Amino acid sequence: MASLPVWLLSIPICCLPPGNANVYAVRNGGWALECAGSGAPGAAPYELVDDYQPGNFLDKFNFYSSYDPTYGHVQYVNETVATANGYAAISSRGTFVLKPDTTNAWPNGGLGIPSVRIISDNTYYHGLFVMDMVHMPTGCGTWPAYWLLGPEWPSKGEIDIIEGVHTDMYNTISMHTSDNCTIAGSTQSGTLKQNNCYAGVNGNSGCGSLLDNNAALPNNYGAGFNQNQGGVYVTEWTSEFVKHWWFPRGSIPSSITNGAPDISQFGIPAVNQQGACDIDTKFRNMSVIINIDFCGAWAGNVYRQYTNCPQNPNPSVDSLNSCVDYVGTNPDSLKQAYFEINSLRVLS
Ligand SMILES: *[C@@H]1O[C@H](CO)[C@@H](O)[C@H](O)[C@H]1NC(C)=O
Ligand SMILES: *[C@@H]1O[C@H](CO)[C@@H](O)[C@H](O)[C@H]1NC(C)=O
Ligand SMILES: *[C@@H]1O[C@H](CO)[C@@H](O)[C@H](O)[C@H]1NC(C)=O
Repeated sequence: MASLPVWLLSIPICCLPPGNANVYAVRNGGWALECAGSGAPGAAPYELVDDYQPGNFLDKFNFYSSYDPTYGHVQYVNETVATANGYAAISSRGTFVLKPDTTNAWPNGGLGIPSVRIISDNTYYHGLFVMDMVHMPTGCGTWPAYWLLGPEWPSKGEIDIIEGVHTDMYNTISMHTSDNCTIAGSTQSGTLKQNNCYAGVNGNSGCGSLLDNNAALPNNYGAGFNQNQGGVYVTEWTSEFVKHWWFPRGSIPSSITNGAPDISQFGIPAVNQQGACDIDTKFRNMSVIINIDFCGAWAGNVYRQYTNCPQNPNPSVDSLNSCVDYVGTNPDSLKQAYFEINSLRVLS
C-alpha cells in the first residue's frame, strides 16, 4: 500500500458504486473493514471465516487447565474432565453448554470449584464476531467472561465483550492495552466509565463502558438476559475502532439471522472504542476465550458491596474470603452459572 499516492487515502472508498472492481481490489489490500464498518452501498460484505456451532466447539477450542491468573476460587479442568462431567456438553435442545461443578462443596482454603476456560485454536486480526447466546452465568460469586486476548499481555491487547460479576444486570465492555491508548466514548448508547485503556493505570480497570439495563440496551446481562433467552453481541474490529452492538432476543436484525450481517442497519453501537489509540499496534493475533470464574481479583474484591449476596457475618472476614466462603459451601447457588451458546460466527 506504500506505493499508493497520498490523495487516494482520502477517497471515500465506501461510496464507490456497487460492483466496482476497485472495491474488491482495495478490500484485498486490507482496507475493506473501514468500508464494511460504514455499511455504505458498495462496501464489500464480510465473509464467514469461522463458524463455531455446538457440534464443533470442542474441535476448535482448547481447554486451559492451569492456575487462574486472576486468583479465582476455581480449578480450570482439561477437556477429558470437562466432557466426562458435563462441564462442556451439547444440551438436549442442541446448544453448547459450559458450566462449573454444581454438586460438591469446595470450601475456602482448599481446591477451587472445577470450572472451564476455553480458548480458540484460531487467532484473529480484525473481524466481525457474532455471538448468539441464550444463557450466561449469573449469581453471587460469579465472574464470567467472553473476550479476546492477544499474546504477551497486555502488549497485544485484551477486548472484553461480555463481563461482569455477581447479580449485575448490566454488561461491562472494556479494553486493556499497553500505554498510549485512550478512547473518546462518543457516539455510543452505553456509558463511558474510564477512557484510558492502559493496563498499568487505574488498577488495570481498562477503558470501559457500562451497558445500563435501560430501554436502549434491555436485558444485556445476568438474570434479565437469561429470562429473555439472551440475544446477540456483535463486535466489529477494524483498524480504526472496536464497536459492539447488543441485540436482545426478539430484536435481532434479520440480516444476522440470515447469515449476512448488514452493519448499516445496526444503528448506534452500545460501545464505540476509538480515539487516540493505534488499534493496529495495540491488538494483534487475538484468541477468543470463554470462561467462568468465581470470586478472584474482580468479583472477590467487590463482593461486600453486593448486599443482595449472602455475606460472612464475621465483620473481620474480608470481601474476597466472604465470597469464597459462600460459593465454596453452596454448590446449589451455582446452578445459574452456565453459558449456553447457539453459535459464534467470525467474519472477515
Ligand atoms: C486431565 O486432568 C486429569 C485430572 O487432573 C488428569 O488426571 C488427566 O491426566 C488429564 N488428562 C489430560 C489428557 O491431560
Ligand atoms: C507511549 O508514548 C511514549 C511517548 O511517545 C513513548 O515513549 C512510549 O514508548 C509509548 N509506549 C508504548 C507502549 O507505546
Ligand atoms: C501473529 O502470529 C503470526 C503467526 O503465528 C506471527 O508470525 C506474527 O509475528 C504474530 N504477530 C504479532 C504482532 O504478534
